[in-house]
Amino acid sequence: MPMPFGSLVDRRQSDSIKWKRYADKDILPMWVADMDFKVNPEILTAIHERTAHGVLGYGSDNPELLNLIVEHCQHHYQWHIQPEWIVLTPGVVKGLNIARGIAAQRGKPAGITAAPVYPHLMQHAPLLSFEDQTFLSKGTGDSWQLDLAHMARNISQDTGVFLLCNPHNPLGKVYSREELMAVAHVCQQHDLIICSDDIHCDLILNGKRHIPIASLSAEIAERCITLMAPSKTFNIAGLDTAFAIISNPAMRKQYQKSMYGLVGHVNIIGTQAAIAAYKYGEPWRQRLIKYLQGNLKLIEQRINSLTGISMRPVEATYLAWLNVAPLQLANPQKYFEDFGVGMSAGSEFADNDYVRLNFGCQQTLLSEALDRIERAVDDRMLALKKMKGPS
Ligand SMILES: Cc1ncc(COP(=O)(O)O)c(C=O)c1O
Repeated sequence: MPMPFGSLVDRRQSDSIKWKRYADKDILPMWVADMDFKVNPEILTAIHERTAHGVLGYGSDNPELLNLIVEHCQHHYQWHIQPEWIVLTPGVVKGLNIARGIAAQRGKPAGITAAPVYPHLMQHAPLLSFEDQTFLSKGTGDSWQLDLAHMARNISQDTGVFLLCNPHNPLGKVYSREELMAVAHVCQQHDLIICSDDIHCDLILNGKRHIPIASLSAEIAERCITLMAPSKTFNIAGLDTAFAIISNPAMRKQYQKSMYGLVGHVNIIGTQAAIAAYKYGEPWRQRLIKYLQGNLKLIEQRINSLTGISMRPVEATYLAWLNVAPLQLANPQKYFEDFGVGMSAGSEFADNDYVRLNFGCQQTLLSEALDRIERAVDDRMLALKKMKGPS
């Protein structure tokens, strides 16, 4: 069967935030995290059927969706949840802020997170930085490690919530059971709510298994708000349909109360899209994973053949976190833009030595972007060599 992901889709006239930024410029948009692929036809059919009904009034929780989410968690993460634990939420970012609000209501308004990370986990949160494993600098290792001692030092009396990103954007890291146990232990010791942003959980590229932190034990789950969505995986982020899973009834009530009057309900189109995604989307998702693995392989081959830029293996997401520190640029994002590639600035994620490349796109586009990145890197390395003078 031919790959449905290879054919280019013109998004320039579709109000796409990603494509609008460079509408009149020869700059390839490889930044905000949505993909350039057409949605699974079964999802499109579900949307068409819903609009064909003709009445688009207010929606309400759809029991079929809740049951599909329960089945999805059981099947993919061996996590047994109840339908009543699910709170449909129009977007994961809103869930992150509701979690912060709950911590504030409990008198501990500060959040803590592990940076570099997706910006919405960092707002008002003191930063906990990732430390390279020492053997990494020797070039033999390839993973990111959480520095829990650093985390504990950053927790104050005001800290009420730990915001986890699993799988981690922008590092592409999938947390292991041991890592999650260790971080949960610190949260238990300091009585922190754990808000886990698992939006990329169905985009694992290296065969590892996603482990929701709340699935570790009932006791840990008591302090957890888990945020998930079909949005990244099935490329329906514009439909703003996500959900929180909260087993603790008091916290769930607080979450629902905080939503009231502020964030509204998930929309009726997104509901049908989510149902179709979880009901029929698995074969499409499997093909997507294969396509993304191919893209990633290409990136790794090309980037690892260059001097001045490097990356660690990406375990999940369609985002590559590229280390450009050796290029000594004040504004790496702008520099690559000048060579025709629009990536996300590392500074947005709290590390200016990096840029983030979104590879959720057709391979022809990606190849062109990699050609341009190569030119940009080679140019800069040459300029640096000239500046240094003859050795
Ligand atoms: C880790 C993470 N969380 C949340 C979001 C956005 O979620 P939503 O659009 O559902 O608010 C993104 C989008 O890139 C993300 O990468």
